[in-house]
This record gives sequence, structure tokens and C-alpha cells, in this order.
Amino acid sequence: MPSYAFFHKQFVPLAEAKIEIMTHALHYGTAIFEGIRGNWNSEHQQTYLFRLKEHYKRMKNGCQVMKISLPYTIEELCQITIELVRRCGFEEDIYLRPLAYKSAKALGVRLHDLEDDFLVFAMPWGRYLDVDKARCSISSWRRPAETPRAKISGLYINNALAKTEAIEKGFDEAIMLTSDGHISEGSGENIFLVIDDKLVTPASYDNFLMGITRNTVIKLAQNELGIETIERHIDRSELYTAEECFLTGTAAHITPVAEVDHYTIGNGEIGEITGRLQKIYTEVIRGNNPKYLHWCTPAYKK
Ligand SMILES: Cc1ncc(COP(=O)(O)O)c(C=O)c1O
Repeated sequence: MPSYAFFHKQFVPLAEAKIEIMTHALHYGTAIFEGIRGNWNSEHQQTYLFRLKEHYKRMKNGCQVMKISLPYTIEELCQITIELVRRCGFEEDIYLRPLAYKSAKALGVRLHDLEDDFLVFAMPWGRYLDVDKARCSISSWRRPAETPRAKISGLYINNALAKTEAIEKGFDEAIMLTSDGHISEGSGENIFLVIDDKLVTPASYDNFLMGITRNTVIKLAQNELGIETIERHIDRSELYTAEECFLTGTAAHITPVAEVDHYTIGNGEIGEITGRLQKIYTEVIRGNNPKYLHWCTPAYKK
């Protein structure tokens, strides 16, 4: 099945969408990206795009910070994305990568006086962390402080260093600390602990990307399980003694964490609350729970 991209304002085969080497964003990371999931439901013969509008709202806010002019409304961005998914016609789980970027063929570190462009492409993508339970390590690379609260390409370099450091040490994922030593997030996920049967997750002042999956999990835990989430600083040692731990992200979904720095979390198995949330979340993102269909945009015409 061929992949397509929306590139230079038209739909083209993915292999034909090519960027010139002087493109500003390639050199300085001057771009805002998103990651959106299309979840295939074989019974419905449908792909549901999960929380599509919320992803583009976050992208719009990021563009505002980065002085990238995005010549589309959120509604138009959603329509472009739906059309792209239809053209691709995949019947499996997919991942969409929108990118709004400084497209000018120009050098010089700045944001002003540069042209911008928007692209999005789709590709089949199964599990991001390809394990049932992740083994994590605390990274020696910290989450940089006082960076803009946006999904900026150039901001991901510490995450990339952290991830590769973790893999080279034999772990599956890195957990980064804030500059003052509190738990911040994974290299591409937010983090939750279960302590005294409540969810605990870093608060907005802990300098992580405000995840859409994080928000989804907080709502599902409250609505479906009656479990509240406490947002606060988390110390590293609390991670080692938590009853349960899991990571959340569009790509990673809800991934249980079995071990951090060789400390076993709980009994090393998927925790009870984590497992229940995983089950609920999986149904919700595939459009199988009518209560949350407002989060699921069907891509295919019926
Ligand atoms: C650094 C980082 N934190 C958290 C997340 C989770 O965000 P979301 O749930 O919106 O995908 C991501 C994924 O995009 C990420 O890259």
C-alpha cells in the first residue's frame, strides 16, 4: 500500500516529497511537529483518528511561539489529514506526522523573515516501545529548563541523547529529570506512578510536554475507575518504591514500567490499575466505547 504526503499544498506519493538541503528547519530545528494515531478497527472497517483537533490545537500554539504562520484553520488541518488517510487507505494502525517548519532556503539563526510551510504524512506503525513491560533508566541527560512549552523539533536533542544512552545501557526507555532533580518525563512519553491507589504524575511546573494521552488517562481514571490523579513534584526515590508505574504517549499508548534502574516496580508485573487503564484506553482509541466517540474522528466514508 503506497504512502502519501501532503507536501507543498498537494497530495503526492511519500517518496516524491523531498526537502531541499538549505531548508532552515533542517539546520536549526525550527519546526513544530505532532504525532497523531489512526487506530484501525477491523469490525467497523474504520480508522479512527484519536483527538485530532487537540493535536492541531497544540500545533497551532507551538507555531504561534515559533512565529511559524500556518495558513490553515484547525478544521482545515483536520480535513487535510482525513483526506490523506483516505488516499493511503491503510487497514492497520497508522501514525501521522504533521510538521510546520521554516521552509526558507536560508541560513542564519532566527525565526523572523523566513517562509514557512506545512506537511503531513502517514505510515503504518505498530508499537513504539516494542515490549509488554518497559525497563527504564534515569537519564544523565536532564530535561532542559525554561524552554518553550511546545513540541519544537530542536528541543528533542536531549531526548534523543537520553534514549540512546538508555538503549546502550540495555534498557528500553529513558526517564529524564528536571534541572532540579524531579521526575519530568520519558524521552517520548509522560509518566504516571500509582501510590496509595492514586495516580501521581509530574505537575505542569515540572517542565514536560503536556501530553494529550496524559490528559486522556487522567479523565479515564476519574470517569471510569473513580481514581483521582495528583499532579505534583515526584522525587526519584518515589519511582523506586511506587506500587505501579506506566508511560503514556500517542506513539507508546499506555506502556507499563516493570523496572527503573534495576529496581523492580511492584512485583515486576503489569500493575492492576495500569492493566485496567490499558484495557479501557485500547477500547476508547479504537472507537469501541460510545461514550468517547467524540474523541475519535472516522477517516473513511461509510
Ligand atoms: C517528550 C514527550 N513527552 C510526552 C509525550 C506525550 O504526548 P502525547 O500524549 O500528546 O503524545 C510525547 C509525545 O508526543 C513526547 O514526545
